[in-house]
Amino acid sequence: MTVATRPDHVPPALVRDFDFHRDPQFRTDPFRAFERVRGDRIFWTPADGGYWVLTRSADIRAVLRDTELFSSDRVSISATPVWPRRMIPAELDPPEHGRYRRLLLPLFSPNAVAGMDSRIRHECVRLIDRFRANGSCELLTDLAEPLQNKVFLDIVGLPQDQADLFRKWKRGLMQAADRERRKAAGADLIAFFEEQLDARETAPQPTRRDVIAVLLESRVDERPLTRDEVLDTLILLFMAGLDTLVTVAGFSFRFLAEHPEHRRQLAASPALAPQAAEELLRVHSIASVSRTATRDTELCGVRIRRGDRILAATSLANRDPREFDAATEVRFDRPANRHIAYGAGPHRCIGSHLASRELAIILEEFHRRIPEYGLPDGYRVRTGGGALASIEAVPLVWRVA
Ligand code: HEM
Repeated sequence: MTVATRPDHVPPALVRDFDFHRDPQFRTDPFRAFERVRGDRIFWTPADGGYWVLTRSADIRAVLRDTELFSSDRVSISATPVWPRRMIPAELDPPEHGRYRRLLLPLFSPNAVAGMDSRIRHECVRLIDRFRANGSCELLTDLAEPLQNKVFLDIVGLPQDQADLFRKWKRGLMQAADRERRKAAGADLIAFFEEQLDARETAPQPTRRDVIAVLLESRVDERPLTRDEVLDTLILLFMAGLDTLVTVAGFSFRFLAEHPEHRRQLAASPALAPQAAEELLRVHSIASVSRTATRDTELCGVRIRRGDRILAATSLANRDPREFDAATEVRFDRPANRHIAYGAGPHRCIGSHLASRELAIILEEFHRRIPEYGLPDGYRVRTGGGALASIEAVPLVWRVA
């Protein structure tokens, strides 16, 4: 890790010892770990080359909306960026950003997601029925991950029999601490995408429009997308769309396993699932996004220099007591739950309708079939911090009649 020396424009009083990648508190509860800094409106940390951290919902929303002053261009608060080029559309700024984003939007619209509802539900029930009589499951590998892999491969237009390989690459790329393993997983994934694209270019296009078909036939600035642009988009979808939903489902079930009264509410009223999903997303906001100042400016009364990086943790925004009553409590009947678990402004998550729908279906179908369950006695769930908080395993056990 590169520890920065405090630059002249950062007042010593605003320097804090904060490191959301390595602080051990993030290994048990990343959301509570963020609360430690709630007392400051803005501060600077020397970790990972130095960056600013915002803590209030209003400030975080404002920075995410102001794409002119705060750029997404290759901004990463991490020692080792995963991809050498800009990922599309997440690391592009307007107006370039919108030209690529609009290509993907129709595939993830509320209508498109409604059309996938019965397929997602069918697969979810099939997976639950496989382990229901066992009296135990591991929520991530037995349900959330295979479900999300299937939905994802379907939307992107990749063969379903590659799900196991995908899991291996995902682990290698996103979870491996070892740089060489990450590089190898990245190279394998790109080789696979290249193969799929080659096959598509020569084979007839499928009747259903999937991501690959859209990217291959679309035009930007009156020209087809280059091969690199197609790959930069597929990589982003892989990074943004596979693990996120799985992780939120894991944190949600950890919470439900430990909170019988919430679990019973869901089991008694499965129709509560969509609201419950939004509330669980709010309190388990896994994404901490970052931006770079495009010029010298002032933010929350503090001088910011061009090139300074700013961390906008959606967990801090979504647990801000200025924005939400009883912000750290989980209330399935919370009125007007305007959380920003999916970000805010022009880069707001493209997959939000899909992810919310999937989480609601998982909650509904699981509790219909398995209303009472818990973590094995003495089991301690391990989690991690970073740009996307992570959770290792959520084993669940229940009585079989
Ligand atoms: C619970 C699950 C998810 C969460 C919490 C989440 C969160 C986010 C957040 C916070 C952003 C904004 C990043 C920024 O402002 O820099 C984002 C962007 C994005 N997400 Fe998601 N996401 C989820 C699921 C998905 C899924 C399932 C997909 C697609 C299959 C997806 C695709 C994308 C894409 C393409 C972007 C970039 C949008 C842009 O830059 O215009 N996400 N996501």
